[in-house]
Amino acid sequence: MSDVAPDRVDAAVGAARDAMDRAYAPYSNFRVGAAVVSGDRIHQGQNIEIASYPISVCAERNAIAAMVNAGDRRIDAVAVVTHADEPTPPCGGCRQVLNEFGPDMTVTVESGTGERAVWRLTEILPHAFGPSNLGK
Ligand code: THU
Repeated sequence: MSDVAPDRVDAAVGAARDAMDRAYAPYSNFRVGAAVVSGDRIHQGQNIEIASYPISVCAERNAIAAMVNAGDRRIDAVAVVTHADEPTPPCGGCRQVLNEFGPDMTVTVESGTGERAVWRLTEILPHAFGPSNLGK
């Protein structure tokens, strides 16, 4: 299904797992790692929780911030990793933020036991509002 080579997806899953180990999640203890593939580069992020809970930031959004900071603006694929028993899909807000930079991307999620699920972003965020709706 993925247009990104399988070894690159594996590399992104590995980068996401590496990032997950640096998550700051003292309130939920639900650590998440994410990695976005942008051409030949991979950018990592992890969730950062704040005592004022609503301003916490998801792993996917922190990976995207790292990507933009590094000068990249296109996501070919994203990997999201947790310790959960089941593969954990990105939250709705993160789906929208992912869409901004790569509506055609694939989304690979991996559980703590290595079980994977793969979707196209268009499958899990159908009829997205995006840049084209603003003429961009
Ligand atoms: N979380 C993410 O990092 N990404 C998601 O897509 C879903 C949720 C984080 C937010 C919070 O720190 C913890 O998981 C529990 O919701």
